[in-house]
Amino acid sequence: MNPPAISTALISALVIALSSCQKTPDMTQSSAPAVTQEPFGTLPDGRPVQIYSLSNSKGTTARVMEYGAILVSLETPDAAGHTADLTHGFDTLQEWVDKNGPYFGATVGRFGNRIAHGRFTLDGKSYTLATNNAPGGIPCHLHGGLKGFNQALWHGRIVDDQTVEFRHTSPAGEEGYPGTLELTVTYSLNDDNELTWEATATTDAPTVINLVHHSYWNLSGDPSTSITDHQLTLHAPHYLPTNAGLIPTGQIAPVAGTPMDFTTAHVIGERIDADFEALRFGAGYDHCWVLEAGQGVRPAARLEDPKSGRIMEIFTNQPAIQCYAGNFLDGSVTGKQGVAYQRRTALCLETENFPDAPNQPDFPSCVLRPGETYKHTLIHKFSTR
Ligand code: GLA
Repeated sequence: MNPPAISTALISALVIALSSCQKTPDMTQSSAPAVTQEPFGTLPDGRPVQIYSLSNSKGTTARVMEYGAILVSLETPDAAGHTADLTHGFDTLQEWVDKNGPYFGATVGRFGNRIAHGRFTLDGKSYTLATNNAPGGIPCHLHGGLKGFNQALWHGRIVDDQTVEFRHTSPAGEEGYPGTLELTVTYSLNDDNELTWEATATTDAPTVINLVHHSYWNLSGDPSTSITDHQLTLHAPHYLPTNAGLIPTGQIAPVAGTPMDFTTAHVIGERIDADFEALRFGAGYDHCWVLEAGQGVRPAARLEDPKSGRIMEIFTNQPAIQCYAGNFLDGSVTGKQGVAYQRRTALCLETENFPDAPNQPDFPSCVLRPGETYKHTLIHKFSTR
């Protein structure tokens, strides 16, 4: 018996069918933005924590969770198409709870950054806050105190196919601050490869506020390498000199002619250890730069890793940005996949109001009153060379 003749048409049909099967992974990669949700674990008191995964057609995935309204990871491809996580953090909820002293990925508040001596006066009334930090041996209040919003369990919900929302209420008197604060933080990932963190808040009594997003970035995707080879541009003609306790002196100093000048791109390591007072106090870059004046959301920073070709641009509606080069990381915190995070292996780009604004009348006001809405927009835009 002769074998059945296979027609050319049948062969072509088989080839097309096979090749379209092989294309399946690519088709998944180019799918529209999507958000999924799953349990991440339980807190020591038994409350469950949800984690959300946002993905887009550029191959980028952001994971965010209810605990601390934290950005858990941000994976995106490099110039050669290799995808890696660009953020410091931990693999399990237990570790996020136990080990996140450096505020990896966190939503920080009620007042992010420092308040001198943990004291301020508002409408003639004095408030005392925890002094939980002491650079140069000088105590201050840092990042909302002993139990800031980075340790709160926020309530999450999927808003649409590119947005997750977290809500939290901070009662009056919590950590010593006046006024009940109603907070909302959203994370959105769109098809322009922009991850937006947006925080809004209202209060029932006058209070001070400075919400800060505190991710640690290493654009190489290898958290064991230093970020001193990354190139940084800041749209900031001035910075805030500080005392040895990293509290602004009140002066707004031009960056021109100093190692603080990133108005054109510079490699971070080029001048980080220069013999310059601000760099001695901060053990490197750990300062607040004053952004070019302007209204609305505008460019603040651009970071480029020459090895991977990854670029991250930062846009914000805030007046300033704290650039912290991870100078205090010392290998004592072990994070994702067992990596001990060493000094200067990540850069924080914290858009914000000025540190110590509650005590410095010449700084932009950080006071929120009933009837007003605080709104902070921070966009991270990812691309490659
Ligand atoms: C901010 C501060 C740093 C450091 C980190 C947290 O960025 O400016 O000095 O405290 O937070 O480790």
